[in-house]
Amino acid sequence: MTDNAASRYAELHARSLRDPEGFWGEAAREIDWIEPAKKVFDPSMGLYGRWFAGGVVNTCYNALDRHVLGGRANQTALIHDSPLTNTVTKFTYAELLDEVKAFAAVMQDFGVAKGDRVVIYMPLVPEAMIAMLACARIGAIHSVVFGGFAAKELATRIDDAQPKLVLSASCGLEPGRIVQYKPLLDEAIKIASFKPQSCIILQRPQQGCDLVKGRDHDWSELCAKAMAAKKFADCVPVLATDPLYILYTSGTTGVPKGVVRDNGGHLVAIKWSMFNLYGVKPGEVWWCGSDIGWVVGHSYIIYGPLFHGATSIMYEGKPIGTPDAGAFWRVISQHKAVAFFTAPTAFRAIKKEDPDGSFIRKYDLSSFRTLFLAGERADPPTVEWAEKHLQRPVIDHWWQTETGWCIAGNPVGLGALPVKHGSPTVAMPGYQVDIVDEASKPVPANKMGSIVIKLPLPPGCLPTLWQQDERCKEAYFTEFPGYYKTSDAGYKDDDGYIFVMGRTDDIINVAGHRLSTGGMEEILASHPDVAECAVLGIKDAVKGEIPCGLIVLKAGVSKSPSEIERDVVALVREKLGPVAAFKLAVTVGRLPKTRSGKILRGTIKKIADGDSWTMPATIEDPKALDEIKSALEGRL
Ligand code: COA
Ligand code: AMP
Repeated sequence: MTDNAASRYAELHARSLRDPEGFWGEAAREIDWIEPAKKVFDPSMGLYGRWFAGGVVNTCYNALDRHVLGGRANQTALIHDSPLTNTVTKFTYAELLDEVKAFAAVMQDFGVAKGDRVVIYMPLVPEAMIAMLACARIGAIHSVVFGGFAAKELATRIDDAQPKLVLSASCGLEPGRIVQYKPLLDEAIKIASFKPQSCIILQRPQQGCDLVKGRDHDWSELCAKAMAAKKFADCVPVLATDPLYILYTSGTTGVPKGVVRDNGGHLVAIKWSMFNLYGVKPGEVWWCGSDIGWVVGHSYIIYGPLFHGATSIMYEGKPIGTPDAGAFWRVISQHKAVAFFTAPTAFRAIKKEDPDGSFIRKYDLSSFRTLFLAGERADPPTVEWAEKHLQRPVIDHWWQTETGWCIAGNPVGLGALPVKHGSPTVAMPGYQVDIVDEASKPVPANKMGSIVIKLPLPPGCLPTLWQQDERCKEAYFTEFPGYYKTSDAGYKDDDGYIFVMGRTDDIINVAGHRLSTGGMEEILASHPDVAECAVLGIKDAVKGEIPCGLIVLKAGVSKSPSEIERDVVALVREKLGPVAAFKLAVTVGRLPKTRSGKILRGTIKKIADGDSWTMPATIEDPKALDEIKSALEGRL
């Protein structure tokens, strides 16, 4: 299947499917267990079996304590680099451990214990990492909510997770703008039916906030007290199958799905990936340029590099504008990162500002070996541009919040396979990826179909949705029996390379962020003057896709169409958040539909994207599409 005879990939992948328990049992030796698993895989547990059943472990111990005990106490664990505050802050493993132990003790004082949930709504600051690891230390389940989400989204997550404690900060920083987090948090708690007992708030020097008496507490004061009293929390043993975190992701409705990650499988899979997939060795500097609000940030800003004894860079900045399109190369060069992981959208932004890659040549990138891209399809022109200017391997890899780590990639540590542009390469060990038709039958090579993963999923993938086994079954395991449904469509070529072409549901990918158009439609439809609406993702040169809302107004409304369009744009920002990048609403007389009343979203998208399209045979009135075409003219 591969041209690289030196790669160990083919042999290991085959073994992982033939003997999964042997394969993952061996990988599990890289982890310090309090008690080893009674069964590497127990098919009788959970929705499709559970990994490392009966094992007892602590995730924080594996991220910090064991490195301190094992000789890495003085190695830098975290480099926080913030061009937005002009600071670089470093923590050794020993320092980070002390901070985490103290903050864990602070949380215990608030009664947080094993199994309790803690919601973290924070910008990209070291304290966010400390908080996540402190939760892991005491067996609490963290649920991080991305800062670009609005109060209502935060409230939905608070209601679902029912946290004992909420951790937040006075503000986040965006270029040229201070984002006040506290009013959003206050509003969320006001809207939520579940009221958390307490909040711990980090006052950032850029902008402080008022604390609600009796509910809010000052982060730094509490930590300073705990540190001074040497009040440190020990690691609490948890089952490998106990949840480490819940991360909410867009579902096909406005209600997000609480993806659960367990402790044992996550430790084993993520640790395995650091060398075998990313080619990073313990002690090296690794940079993942995501945000802790996304799964990529969980796995590869926080956990992966620390499980591996590497140094992790946390970057509070943007690819461009902080201060320029050379920001990435400055960070790589200054901190001597060996590998960097970001989303293609960031590269498209840089390419637009610096088409000749002149900033790249200004920096010494001699330590830098590999660029990894994920979060959305890596379009071949972007990959080619990056390869040409970086003169290094550019590796696309495909995964989802649900899987927690890579489904298909190019395993650099095992020996990289030849790159094919447009493909994230091959299935990682543990994943049998098939392309099937509606009847779950595999389709021939080069034919498009639904991408599915044969059960059981490997360690690290979701065991369930938070307190929603039925929804999990329905969403992922029902349509294609015996498989996990990825909701991505694509094909495999003659060499078994996987090509991921797009979603089969209403999810769109905006600047590497996963968003539900269904969720946005619910918001548009809530406007009193909107009779009907459709939201679709249309092509965007930098963000990949951006949402576009078509609205049909109720008869006799008093406001003008442009006023209502402005209203709905503001409403999405208010209800969903700026991350939706919803800036285009267009009023139309009616929505084109099939005779059975289904909105022809696919055809509308093709018209908006300027792609060729054919008149659907089932259309109710062909003129409706011409009307859309004229309504969109001059608006895109
Ligand atoms: N808190 C509050 N607001 C936030 C935020 C946060 N943590 N993150 C983003 N936002 C806001 C932005 O300020 C912006 O607001 P605006 O409409 O007022 O300009 C909006 O949300 C959209 O943000 P973003 O998607 O970041 O777009 P951008 O135009 O600011 O930047 C890119 C575009 C391509 C540079 C940027 O999207 C990027 O670097 N993306 C990388 C994506 C990534 O790493 N994804 C993780 C998956 S691997
Ligand atoms: P998220 O759960 O936010 O990580 O988004 C997962 C979705 O992003 C996937 O289902 C894909 O649709 C898309 N995606 C992520 N990485 C890739 C990739 N490398 N190639 C194509 N699509 C990708």
